[in-house]
Amino acid sequence: ISALLNTLAITTLLGWLFVSVVFSACSTPSVCLRNNLCLFASTGKVYYFNHITNASQWERPVGDGRGEPDKVRCSHLLVKHNQSRRPSSWREQNITRTKDEALDLIQKYIEQIKSGEEKFEYLASQFSDCSSAKNGGDLGLFGRGQMQKPFEDASFALKVGDMSGPVFTDSGVHIILRTG
Ligand SMILES: *[C@@H]1O[C@H](CO)[C@@H](O)[C@H](O)[C@H]1NC(C)=O
Ligand SMILES: *[C@@H]1O[C@H](CO)[C@@H](O)[C@H](O)[C@H]1NC(C)=O
Ligand SMILES: *[C@@H]1O[C@H](CO)[C@@H](O)[C@H](O)[C@H]1NC(C)=O
Repeated sequence: ISALLNTLAITTLLGWLFVSVVFSACSTPSVCLRNNLCLFASTGKVYYFNHITNASQWERPVGDGRGEPDKVRCSHLLVKHNQSRRPSSWREQNITRTKDEALDLIQKYIEQIKSGEEKFEYLASQFSDCSSAKNGGDLGLFGRGQMQKPFEDASFALKVGDMSGPVFTDSGVHIILRTG
């Protein structure tokens, strides 16, 4: 791809950055890659990237006008890799995939969920390397200080109903969906 890149990043609310990228003609719109770049058919389109949750979206984010809650409820889909703290799960006794392979799977699941092809709960129940898979990924309510820091920060930066991008912890790579 011969891309002409023009990036603006302006800090806005809750970790959202505004990114404007200009590409020469690309065939598939709305494909967001890592490195915070999106490809689209037309030029000069803008998307928003949240550096706390790693979420990217076309719509302008809006604040919900409320302060931080004491607790949030989230579901997650975890893909472990061979550098995970415990590279083993109910799905696979010895997880040997690399971190990059785990990230590729996570990106694929995010695309499937965003396109409506699959439901988050279904993918979590089938493919999450966490025992919460049996509950569709649901972790219940938790407060600050209970989860690993990147997971906690992403969870508290999400609005109810919003989904994160790839979030990295010692356990592996996660997609987090805030449900309450
Ligand atoms: C993970 O797998 C890759 C590729 O097989 C290998 O290069 C790397 O050393 C492994 N890392 C660990 C911690 O086992
Ligand atoms: C897991 O797989 C790796 C790579 O195939 C192997 O080196 C290692 O011994 C295995 N560990 C266990 C506990 O089976
Ligand atoms: C966001 O993604 C980048 C690059 O893929 C990664 O280094 C960073 O840890 C991620 N952020 C979180 C909160 O996991």
